[in-house]
Order: sequence, then C-alpha cells, then structure tokens
Amino acid sequence: MAETINQWSVIMIVLSGIALIFGVLFIRRGNREAHMRSMLTASALATVFLVLYLTRLAMGYEKTYIGPNKGAYLALLLSHIVLAAANLPLALGALWHAWKGLQAAGNLNNIDAPAARAHFNKHRAWVRWTVPVWLYVAATGWIIYVLLHKYGQVSTGA
Ligand code: HEM
Repeated sequence: MAETINQWSVIMIVLSGIALIFGVLFIRRGNREAHMRSMLTASALATVFLVLYLTRLAMGYEKTYIGPNKGAYLALLLSHIVLAAANLPLALGALWHAWKGLQAAGNLNNIDAPAARAHFNKHRAWVRWTVPVWLYVAATGWIIYVLLHKYGQVSTGA
C-alpha cells in the first residue's frame, strides 16, 4: 500500500513539472489563458503530491539507500529536501501575485492596467526563482525514486 502511494506521489510531482514546462511555453507564446490553466494544474498536481507524500510519511514508510556513492546520494537528497521545502512558499508567492494581479486587472487582457502591472511585475520576480526550483525538485524527486527502486531497502513499516 505505502509503495503504491509512493509510486503515485512520484507520478504526480513529475506530471506537475511537465504542466509547469507547458505553462512556461504558453506564456512565452503570449497565451495567458492557457498559461493560467497549466499553472493551476501544476499547482493542483503538486498539492496531490504533498498529500500523498505526507500520508506515506505518516505510515512510517522509509527506504534507506544501500548503493554506491552514498555521499553523493545524500547530497542529492539534501538538496532535494531543502528546495522542496522552499518550493511551497515560492509557489504560494507566485500564485498570490498572479491572483492579486488578476483581481486588479479584471481579466487577462488588461494586465497592463497600473494596479495590475505592479502585481504582475512581482509575479515575474517570484517565478524567476519558483520555476527553476520547482523543476529541480520534480526532476530530483524522480531520480531519487529510481535510485531507491534500484538500491533502496525498506527500513520501517509497510
Ligand atoms: C493563477 C495563476 C497564474 C496566472 C493568472 C498567471 C498569469 C501570468 C501573466 C499574466 C503573466 C505575464 C506577465 C507579464 O507579461 O508581465 C505571467 C508570466 C509568467 N508566469 Fe504566471 N500566472 C499564474 C501562475 C504562475 C505560476 C504558478 C508560475 C510558476 C511557478 C508562473 C510562471 C510564470 C512565468 C515563468 C512567467 C513569465 C515571466 C517573464 O516573462 O519574465 N505563473 N503569468
């Protein structure tokens, strides 16, 4: 059961990364509506990931890495955990300014209205960090899953 939850959580974080890439491509092409939908989808998938991840933790399911280069693995794991924790406030900040901007603009065709512009400038400043961190977390989450699948030993519960 915990192993299945683990698999689904990885699928969710990888899909959220893919939705994020689509969101970036859409805004580069100027399609704001599709950008918003992709980013809300990415956020929803990341939220499902978080719920599944916390459920698995609560079930006491852990895997210990017993493969080669343990130091490199632990460095990867540490960077993943630190940036995953940072990703939540970063994503909330990006969403908050997009939301406030949208409220001030009334609709996505009016984002250059002065009150909206200030929020979307902040949105752009936040996403400069949010996008790379989110992608790093999604990619390393998948890499860690693959490594533990190959070299992991279930240490507790499940
Ligand atoms: C309700 C959700 C969202 C809405 C309505 C929204 C809306 C927008 C708009 C209107 C722009 C263009 C801003 C401008 O031209 O100055 C933009 C840019 C952008 N947004 Fe979003 N956004 C949302 C969520 C997100 C999220 C969650 C992310 C990533 C974490 C994101 C990443 C980006 C990126 C990378 C850009 C391009 C920034 C640039 O050109 O420098 N957006 N967004």
